[in-house]
Amino acid sequence: MSQLFSPVRVGRYTLPNRLVMAPMTRSRALLDGTPGDLAAEYYAQRASVGLIVTEGTQPSDDGQGYLTTPGIYTDAHVAGWKKITSAVHEKGGHIFIQLMHAGRMSHPDNTPHHRQGVAPSAIAPGTGMFTAKGMQDIPAPRALSTEEVRQTVAEFRFAARRAIEAGADGVEIHGANAYLIHQFLAPNANTRTDEYGGSIENRARFAIEVAAAIAEEIGADRTAIRLSPGMTLWGIDEGTEGPDLYRYLVAELDKLGLAYLHIMHQGNEPLLTDIGHLWKQPFTLNRPGRPREQIGADVESGLADLEAYGQMVLANPDFVARLKADAPMTEANRNSFFGGDAQGYTDYPTFRETASA
Ligand SMILES: Cc1cc2nc3c(=O)[nH]c(=O)nc-3n(C[C@H](O)[C@H](O)[C@H](O)COP(=O)(O)O)c2cc1C
Repeated sequence: MSQLFSPVRVGRYTLPNRLVMAPMTRSRALLDGTPGDLAAEYYAQRASVGLIVTEGTQPSDDGQGYLTTPGIYTDAHVAGWKKITSAVHEKGGHIFIQLMHAGRMSHPDNTPHHRQGVAPSAIAPGTGMFTAKGMQDIPAPRALSTEEVRQTVAEFRFAARRAIEAGADGVEIHGANAYLIHQFLAPNANTRTDEYGGSIENRARFAIEVAAAIAEEIGADRTAIRLSPGMTLWGIDEGTEGPDLYRYLVAELDKLGLAYLHIMHQGNEPLLTDIGHLWKQPFTLNRPGRPREQIGADVESGLADLEAYGQMVLANPDFVARLKADAPMTEANRNSFFGGDAQGYTDYPTFRETASA
């Protein structure tokens, strides 16, 4: 496990260790998308990981899916995020803001303009979503025109610029978990007949254009992307071509020289090995639910340069210190994942606090 605690170069930064806080939506922002008052404390408490990746953050009104998620496109958003990035930097940490466009995973009751969600095609995900009125079915989205797809790329670019203005060290593009970019990749969510649909190259085009635009805007060495090959969440089916699509996409993204690739692994080990070979830049791996005794195994084997952890970091602000000391971990409380106040957010104790209580 000791290799986890060795420095690693990621883009233009040298991180003190190879542990990454995985992006986690906490739904505690204000209704206008400004991060909530406790967010600076929450992230600063966790600044001892090598890199914090923030909760998914919408690049535009259309990009919002859930209630009270933060945005990074207005002056108020930038001012709110500045408090967070400053607090993390004061603790010596590094922070990338995750840019998440929900696409069709959106309910009109949750967005500022209350409009229909947008997506590659007008196909509903076939699932429900929590809104201020409780759970509701997600209506079918509106298909973006070709021109609007290009505008959406421009929105990502603008949001990345604003993230840097807010003091972020970089951005991670959310290309995983059934949201907009992933919807473009999947043939059952993307039935377009223009250059953004059909062949593998066409379905991968949006992801590549977003990454290239952001890299041009803020520097490839501050731009990262997250993918979840094989993920079948919320109606997404990548079909039999799925693995080939990812081999193509990763090889193309690699040419951009991004800061890192973040894979949320779904179990296809041969594909993961291929991706590891195709990707020459730093590689971050998240294996959901990884047991504690396996922590460090992918850095040790050389498959990954960094390992990302979600729930363990959520519930253990001193995750790195606990690993070093072989101290027990607190279990995350699922009831306080989304929405609410300090409870289950900033009140998870450090091991030292637990021991002296
Ligand atoms: C409360 C919660 C919110 C999440 N929100 C996001 C998100 O905004 N963006 C994202 O890419 N993944 C999100 N995830 C997935 C995590 O980044 C991670 O992949 C997942 O929790 C599995 O890793 P773990 O077992 O270490 O927690 C979320 C997970 C949790 C538990």
